[in-house]
Amino acid sequence: MGFILAATGSAIGLGNLWKFPFITWENDGGAFVLVYLVCIAAVGLPIMMAELLVGRKSQKSAVGALKEVVGPLWGSLGLWGVLCGFVLLSYYTVIAGWSLYYFAKSSSWLINGFPTGTNMGDLFGAQSGNGALQLGLSLAFSIATVSVVYFGVQKGIERIAKLFLPVLFGILVLLLISALGMSGSGEALRFIFRPNFAELDRASVLEALGHSFFTLSLGMGAMITYGSYISKNQSIVKASAIIVVLDTLIALIATVIMFSVIFSVPGMDQQVSGTGTVGMLFISLPELFFTEVPFGQVLGPLFYVLVALAALTSTMSLLEVVASYVIDNHGIARNKATLMCGGVIFLFTILAAVSFGAVPAITDLQLGGALGDMFFGGKVGWFGMADHFVSNWMLPTGGLGITIAAGWVVSREITKSELVDGTQPGWFSYGAWRFFIRYVAPVAVGAILIAVIFFGRDFS
Ligand code: TRP
Repeated sequence: MGFILAATGSAIGLGNLWKFPFITWENDGGAFVLVYLVCIAAVGLPIMMAELLVGRKSQKSAVGALKEVVGPLWGSLGLWGVLCGFVLLSYYTVIAGWSLYYFAKSSSWLINGFPTGTNMGDLFGAQSGNGALQLGLSLAFSIATVSVVYFGVQKGIERIAKLFLPVLFGILVLLLISALGMSGSGEALRFIFRPNFAELDRASVLEALGHSFFTLSLGMGAMITYGSYISKNQSIVKASAIIVVLDTLIALIATVIMFSVIFSVPGMDQQVSGTGTVGMLFISLPELFFTEVPFGQVLGPLFYVLVALAALTSTMSLLEVVASYVIDNHGIARNKATLMCGGVIFLFTILAAVSFGAVPAITDLQLGGALGDMFFGGKVGWFGMADHFVSNWMLPTGGLGITIAAGWVVSREITKSELVDGTQPGWFSYGAWRFFIRYVAPVAVGAILIAVIFFGRDFS
């Protein structure tokens, strides 16, 4: 139970509440969502099982586990994952910091009243462009992350997850009910669930695939590390299914809520598309709380606390990937290792924190030409470039490595005994899993990477 909640806490994070809604918006909904769901089921779920089984089999963190279960050279795949965790954590913290800001802001509105007529887009731009504020917020969040990992509190992680995941779910359902009552909900549901394949290009497919790794914390060894906590009498298959279903549900609910608001407030859709959609969670929702939702004044601040907590259960797990590598492979004590890793990662957080207008050279950073397009999706600014590279390149390549390891290198006996242990649910077929991990997942990931490398970004 504790493990499932910790792993679900790792999966559910800003990827669900912040990122999925805005990439769904950018990719015109419908068809993108469908491709994403296919990626989750056909690629994400089998890889989730693969990562967890490698972790449980070895009882080690990523690098050691891959070396032991797969082979000595496979440790480098684990290192690639550690590097990925490092970069991902460095910028994730900045968005997590925004949730602290909006918690403070909405609390002050609760006390002093909501300033009607405030332009939420302008407010967002002002906070994200304020360098000192951004550094303070992300430093505060980094300290919180380091403190949890420093004390090694597995019990702390599990307790937080156990307490707050149900509350997060409850609040989301409440918001969903009120969002469905809004005038824009029909248009929102159509936007999200009615596929329009004319709008879909191969770049969107890559993004859907990349996000399915991101949202499930796959492709970088985090779930290998967590897999080492699963007890022998727990079903890896069942655990994987629970994590994947909860994660997907939360992302869809968050998206329906946000889009219902956007389509209900006149002119909001133009505004969202115009100001860049990165801030959607922080532009459209605050207004909903204070103008539309019953008890929204109270739910608002509470919601941003929960966003922060969802982010924290993910940042803890990210730092754990990096720290446990340093602890296990370089024999450094946990407290020293955590401080060291947290400190070095924060240096890169600084770059991400000033990517939203505070430092023009970092905000406007860009790699032009075909390479820039291929690796960074033409994104401008340190933050956007790092995020694109991690989500669309590091995670899919790491995931590809893991499918090959689990499908082709690790013996059938080992994977079968881990997955089919008498506790697996009735619907599970080992043969189907093996088919997906050997053929479907690597071919899908490989084909998309090849398409992007050889055919460029503009697929039209
Ligand atoms: N799954 C997290 C989210 O959706 C982000 C994430 C990706 C992550 N890889 C991870 C979290 C590894 C912890 C560990 O927000």
